[in-house]
Amino acid sequence: MRIYVLTIFPPYFTSPLDTGLLKKAIDKGVVSIEIVDIRDFCDDKHKQVDDYQFGGGAGLVLKVEPVVKAIEFVRSRERDAWVVLLDPSGERFDQRMAWEFSKKEALCLVCGRYEGIDARAEEFVDQIVSIGDYVLHGGEVASLVIIEAVARLIPGFVKTYESALDDSFPRLLDYPHYTKPREFRGLKVPDVLLSGHHAEIARWRKREALKRTLIRRPDLIKSANLTEEEAKLLSEVQDELRGGDDDVGPSADKKV
Ligand code: 6GU
Repeated sequence: MRIYVLTIFPPYFTSPLDTGLLKKAIDKGVVSIEIVDIRDFCDDKHKQVDDYQFGGGAGLVLKVEPVVKAIEFVRSRERDAWVVLLDPSGERFDQRMAWEFSKKEALCLVCGRYEGIDARAEEFVDQIVSIGDYVLHGGEVASLVIIEAVARLIPGFVKTYESALDDSFPRLLDYPHYTKPREFRGLKVPDVLLSGHHAEIARWRKREALKRTLIRRPDLIKSANLTEEEAKLLSEVQDELRGGDDDVGPSADKKV
C-alpha cells in the first residue's frame, strides 16, 4: 500500500516513520509513505500557505490552491487514491474504517489545521475524518494515528497476519497480560497463569476480558452478542463485583 501525507509540517513525520515496526514495514516494502509538502504547491514568491479569513475572525485559514494542487499531484500519480481530509468535523475514525483503508491501493491523508482549511478544498476529497471529540492543532497527529492503525492490518506488517486479525476487532477488551517477575511490590501474577492448565487459563482469560469490558467499557458489552458461555461467565463476574463470594482467588485484582 502507498500512503501520501499532505502537510505544511513535513519534519513532524521524521521520527515516527523512522522507528519500530513502521520503519521495518517501510524497509520491507509492505507500505510506502511519502510526505508531500503543501508549501511546494504555492505559486507565490513567499510560499504563503495560509491567510486571513473572509468575513473576519481569529486564526489563519489554509489556502485552497496549494492544498488542491497537492491533492492533484497525488491523483496524477495514483488514479485510484482515496483522499481523506483530517478535520475535527469529520466522520469518527474507528477499527472498521481502518480495515476499509487497509484495502485501498493508495491513501492520501490531507492534514488540515485547527483554525480551518478553505471549505472549497472539501470538494476535492473523498472523505472527511476525525480521530475523536477533542481539538488538536492540526491533522498531523491524526494522520499518524491512522497510519499506525491501518499499516498493521496490511499482510506482511506483523510476522503473522493472524495476530493482527486476532486482536483487531475489539468486540471485548483484551484480558490482562503478565510477565516476569512473579511478584512486584506485593502484586502477584494470578496463580492460574502459572498452573499450566491450558483450559483453565483460557477460561480465566475470557472471564477477565469480560470483567474488564464490563468495568471499563460497559457500552461494548451491550453490542457484543455474547455466546452462551460468555453470558454465563459474565453473570459470574457480575456476582463477584456485587461482592458475592465465588471461586475467585485472593490474587484476583479489584483494579482491572
Ligand atoms: Cl483529524 N484534526 C484536528 N485538528 N483535530 C482533531 C482531529 C483532526 N481529530 C480529532 N481532533
